Amino acid sequence: MWPHTDPQPATVCLRVSMLFNGVYRGRRVLITGHTGFKGSWMATWLLELGADVAGFSVDVPTSPANFDASGLRDKVRHYEGDIRDRGAFLAAAREFKPSCIFHLAAQSLVRRSYTSPVETFETNAIGTLNVLEALRHVPGIEAAVLITSDKCYRNRDWVWGYRETDTLGGEDPYSSSKGCAELIYHSYYCSFFGRTAGLPATATARAGNVIGGGDWTPDAIVPDCVRSWASGDPVVLRNPHAVRSWLQVLEVLSGYMWLGASLLSGASGANGESFNFGPPSEATYSVERLVSEFGKHWAKASWNVRPMHDAPEAQLLKLSCEKALAQLSWRTVLSFEETLALTAEWYREYLSGSADMFEFSLDQIRRYQRKASQSGLPWARSPEVAWQAV
Ligand SMILES: NC(=O)c1ccc[n+]([C@@H]2O[C@H](COP(=O)([O-])OP(=O)(O)OC[C@H]3O[C@@H](n4cnc5c(N)ncnc54)[C@H](O)[C@@H]3O)[C@@H](O)[C@H]2O)c1
Repeated sequence: MWPHTDPQPATVCLRVSMLFNGVYRGRRVLITGHTGFKGSWMATWLLELGADVAGFSVDVPTSPANFDASGLRDKVRHYEGDIRDRGAFLAAAREFKPSCIFHLAAQSLVRRSYTSPVETFETNAIGTLNVLEALRHVPGIEAAVLITSDKCYRNRDWVWGYRETDTLGGEDPYSSSKGCAELIYHSYYCSFFGRTAGLPATATARAGNVIGGGDWTPDAIVPDCVRSWASGDPVVLRNPHAVRSWLQVLEVLSGYMWLGASLLSGASGANGESFNFGPPSEATYSVERLVSEFGKHWAKASWNVRPMHDAPEAQLLKLSCEKALAQLSWRTVLSFEETLALTAEWYREYLSGSADMFEFSLDQIRRYQRKASQSGLPWARSPEVAWQAV
């Protein structure tokens, strides 16, 4: 399922640099939230593609963290700062002079948003405003992808997937703050950017329930399993029947980066648009099913159910991803089982204590790229010349 034999290194090197139409090779890319789960994987992947990568984050949000396990502090230009501080962010952007920005920095926890609503709104809504201000005032930025969430929609607990045109909203402060970020973005796009030549091309990206190695988020199901099972305890399931569209981290990042590539090329009409990224609509599974599948990769995996009602969460949340398929030819390539196998493989390697996790992550990225290429996805298609050995 996951072949480990790589082509000759020189072949791989030439091929990967042409992925995503080769737009990231030699390009200056700034990631906000690069110390977090998704941001650290994105930094790793962009380095592999030959980008000059910088990151802006307030802290390393967990311990352990993929950012530390992969030694990324020494591999990218690291700006420590608060996205709520507009001056600090503009100064970092002016110094680094990115041509592309991926904005991922956020207070990303629903449960924490109930105890820290002001911090959540300031970070997620005003933080996005500050990134948009940088797009207005820092010369040379060609494109930006702003990451919000599947939770930006008003949740109706219905069986259909939300479409990009559905009503924004969200009852808890986290979800609402992501809806606010979308509204602020729309205003800036209409008022300051539009499709005027020479101004940054921009889009927002909405996804949810991302899983993969290197995530140590508190109160998230996969990290909860790893923490419990690594110490021989049963994991506690708070919401076993909640149904979600689980998405491997490389799948969602391929969507963000292909969207960025489309904006940079100016060809796709993605400018000013929002895109959902997720698995096919039939690929939804309960928390309990996920734990049972993930548990197959562990010697001892058990769980207890203990419902909690202090921070209500939707029971069913699905996205319609037909727009990404139609306009970007983007779709997922991993099955549910492969998603969990890849995730478990990373944690087992980390817990074995002997691995270089940066190299291990690169190996997962290369295998994923190969599978996407074999599946015919345009972002993973390389020109013929790029496949020749050198
Ligand atoms: N992981 C998921 O399943 C998921 C689902 C939907 C949306 N998202 C969104 O994707 C993005 C990345 O998610 P993640 O899981 O990697 O999050 P994470 O919590 O692992 O990382 C958050 C990052 O933001 C930074 N950050 C937080 N507050 C900041 C501030 N005030 N100033 C500067 N940096 C700050 C942190 O230092 C960290 O680098 C976030 O916008 C999140 O809301 C994630």
